[in-house]
Amino acid sequence: MKILRTRKELREFSREQKEAGKTIGLVPTMGALHEGHLALMRAACEKCDVVIASVFVNPVQFGPNEDYDKYPRRFAEDCRLLEGIPVDAVFHPTPEEMYPEGYCTYVQVDGSITNKLCGAQRPGHFRGVATVVTKLINLARADEAFFGQKDAQQVVVIRRFVEDLDINVHIRMVPIVREESGLARSSRNMYLSAEEKKAACVLSGSLREAKEAFEKGETDVDILKRLVSERIEAEPLASIDYVELFSFPALQPIRKVSETALLAIAVKIGKTRLIDNVILEGSQKAS
Ligand code: PAJ
Repeated sequence: MKILRTRKELREFSREQKEAGKTIGLVPTMGALHEGHLALMRAACEKCDVVIASVFVNPVQFGPNEDYDKYPRRFAEDCRLLEGIPVDAVFHPTPEEMYPEGYCTYVQVDGSITNKLCGAQRPGHFRGVATVVTKLINLARADEAFFGQKDAQQVVVIRRFVEDLDINVHIRMVPIVREESGLARSSRNMYLSAEEKKAACVLSGSLREAKEAFEKGETDVDILKRLVSERIEAEPLASIDYVELFSFPALQPIRKVSETALLAIAVKIGKTRLIDNVILEGSQKAS
């Protein structure tokens, strides 16, 4: 596996692959890799000739009071996991390499999809994500780029700017990978104590219950949201940031689930903020 640290090295690697007629799959990550990330790598290997992973804790998507400094960094271990897939190359730049002095261009997606869910709680977050993902897609000359449903709003935002800016890349969404307990895998799970980890199962548990209620015929958005909130409020270590249900992928408010919708939650367990979601497939219930 090639380790590429500069934009020039990545551009040269991608040019060589293109000249050899290969298709390129890109999997952007911030490292501290786990099974969720590795599922994206495997999906990319299935679809593309060459797979480039990136490991970069992107400073511009973190707010001033967020965990940028504390975010886990373990590049040697990440490389070991990537080699096991195997991925062809990993791009691991410094912040100065990605945002050199004088840098002042950002990709901003309109509020209608960025000012809710994680965007409401984290102003500037999606501007930072859109900016770095644009740079990575361009540098890697990716034919396809792979993202997790875990961050469903992120996928919506990325698909939006890719279409709006005429970027020639196919964005694929990979299902959420969970631990046996149901807890969605996340680099932030390592902040949780054993007791908090147990409590954190309330995220997936409450979503599963709401999905079951929906499958039994409950389509009222307020009732489905209430089911989730009440279950989470019963967990002493949990406090709700949001419980939301929007149409998907438009992310617009709805009162009944008649078409595909996203039930998404953000919950603090102790000091750690976790997110999870389910997609409710409404088409069969459209009557
Ligand atoms: P990061 O949180 O490292 O996640 C990298 C990718 O892995 C994202 O597409 C995320 O949705 C996916 N992922 C994380 N946990 C997952 C799980 N349990 N199941 C499936 N996929 C999962 O998201 C980011 O980094 C950054 O915002 C990034 C896109 C790299 C831009 O900086």
